[in-house]
Amino acid sequence: MAWDSASLRLTDMKGPIGIFDSGYGGLTVFKEIEKQLPEFDYIYLGDNARTPYGTRSLEKVYEFTLEGVRYLFEQGCNLVILACNTASANALRTIQRKNLASFGPQKRVLGVIRPTTERLSEFSHSGHIGLCGTTATVNSGSYVIEAQKYAPDIQVHQQACPLWVPMVENDEIGSEAAHLITQKYLSELLGQHPDIDAVLLACTHYPLMYATIKAHLPEGITLISQGELVAHSLRDYLSRHPEMEALCSKGGSRIFLTTDSPESFERLGENYYSAPVHSQRVDIEAKKNPHRSGEDLN
Ligand code: DGL
Repeated sequence: MAWDSASLRLTDMKGPIGIFDSGYGGLTVFKEIEKQLPEFDYIYLGDNARTPYGTRSLEKVYEFTLEGVRYLFEQGCNLVILACNTASANALRTIQRKNLASFGPQKRVLGVIRPTTERLSEFSHSGHIGLCGTTATVNSGSYVIEAQKYAPDIQVHQQACPLWVPMVENDEIGSEAAHLITQKYLSELLGQHPDIDAVLLACTHYPLMYATIKAHLPEGITLISQGELVAHSLRDYLSRHPEMEALCSKGGSRIFLTTDSPESFERLGENYYSAPVHSQRVDIEAKKNPHRSGEDLN
């Protein structure tokens, strides 16, 4: 923390790294980030009360994501990671272009799509990768567009898997219904091209379904989870941006916030995070907090 001669200069205040997701899914990314960058302070925020985002309109995902990002900035974060593909696909660019400047010159928000697409070529020999994502991620076309830029040798074939998030959020990951629906999604995806040799889990909730998905995937097809890819990319980003790294505090603390029941978050969150989580409920909705300016929502 730095002081000038007369007052605290807010722009120089260090803060925790914020991790945002629509619910529990971002914990699968946070777990990997924490492994690679354990020294930092973190605030995890899950908008469990309004999950799933993946079946909502672009406008709603943007509105909710902006509320989450704003809340994390208000808690002192200077850097926020959208550990959610749906939010990254539908809100990241607009927040970066339209809203970020109003939060202060030192604030940054990053997503998960570019870090993932930059590494796609490592996983496929054929150049054909299948993608499982939420309806909103698939409809945005973000992965197809980003792959053209960052992995031009890869053709992405997309499959919306709208029932997987509710199954994960309701702890139904290995049920009979989960197996049936997984078989259906994968056969539709693999039916799109005979040379698909890797499948990307382009939703941070899906690693929880890993065993069920793997059970229905033919031998020789690689299943890609993105947590490690995103964590590696963040470490690289911080080493290339020492000015940002200097604004991220290093006390090793972890705070978990949810917009829904902390009891449920603690019970289910542990499955994603692989360790106990102690959470607090917070309200991030701008309309219920009239002291917050609504100007960024316009
Ligand atoms: N975890 C989010 C993602 O990565 C989506 C979950 C949801 O639909 O809310 O896409």
